[in-house]
Amino acid sequence: MSIILAIESSCDDTSVSICNNGEITSNVIANQTIHQNYGGVIPELASRVHQQNIVPTVTQALIDAGVTKQDITAVAFTRGPGLLGSLLVGVSFAKSFALALNIPLISVNHMHAHILAHFIPARSAGGDEPKPAFPFLCLTVSGGHTQIVLVKDFFDMEVVGETLDDAAGEAFDKTAKILSLPYPGGPLIDKHAKLGNPNAFKFAVPQIADLNFSFSGFKTSILYFIRKQEKVNPNFIAENLDDICASVQHSIIEILMNKLKMASKLYGINEIAIAGGVSANSGLRQALQNGAVDYGWKVYVPAFQYCTDNAGMIAIAGYHKFLKNDFADQSVSPLARMEF
Ligand code: KG4
Ligand code: ZN
Repeated sequence: MSIILAIESSCDDTSVSICNNGEITSNVIANQTIHQNYGGVIPELASRVHQQNIVPTVTQALIDAGVTKQDITAVAFTRGPGLLGSLLVGVSFAKSFALALNIPLISVNHMHAHILAHFIPARSAGGDEPKPAFPFLCLTVSGGHTQIVLVKDFFDMEVVGETLDDAAGEAFDKTAKILSLPYPGGPLIDKHAKLGNPNAFKFAVPQIADLNFSFSGFKTSILYFIRKQEKVNPNFIAENLDDICASVQHSIIEILMNKLKMASKLYGINEIAIAGGVSANSGLRQALQNGAVDYGWKVYVPAFQYCTDNAGMIAIAGYHKFLKNDFADQSVSPLARMEF
């Protein structure tokens, strides 16, 4: 019997979730819109806004789940990786809460949690949604990470490929900045891409032999392409926005899917999942579904609300640690960089 309160504060979203015996009964997210004015997350501002939001978000999560503070049996929190000042707010709050109620603390790796979001119970008309079977491969794509992870068990994971420079989410966000779209640009590129032609413009896909990725040269090639076109037509972006977005998105998905195919062959694994903020992208979700038809993969796409940062994923990861009595002590501190 467990009722876990989980806190996520690694970047710019303050989120709190309650997990009641493995069921997510609330998942409240307070987004920070202030960063839109700056074209990216300003760490100093992010930690201050977490500080303002954390107590109201906890209060709301308790109300939504229909429980009180006294009902909580453990507190899970994101230890890292992330922005140190942001993590400090969540970690300090979690420690104080656990100390006050004399209940155990559970430390969660944010990247594990993105993957374990697949184990949040989801019911459709047909019954329980199938969950990935171990071992599976997960393409984990967010604003800070792009990795192919071999997931052997709940907390036994190995990164078998990763980006050598920018993350896939950064490729979306930096392209959006070039196009003068506000931060975070990924969802806006996705929206415009739905209206455009993915083959309107061709961008060079980086050629890297192993399972690693590189997006920095790709982003520069887009910048040079746009500058060149604007010399001929100053209204190039405005007149071609949908086609540019569709073409950029198409190329990013091609880069990601090529490596997934390579990993699937190399490891002989057909259980394939995606996770992280970029897994909310409609084109990537469709490409994965196509993989099921084209390569016989069993594919797993997280529920949309558990793709981008949320505490529901921290709560489910915390629940699986709770089942193993895997607790942290009160001397635990956040880690900006945290290995798998
Ligand atoms: O996992 P996440 O919420 O935060 C990090 O841990 O980084 O991922 C945020 C990233 C941002 O780069 C955002 O632009 C991207 O996910 N993103 C998307 C979409 N929704 C969020 N990228 C492409 N298409 C989307 N629909
Ligand atoms: Zn994340």
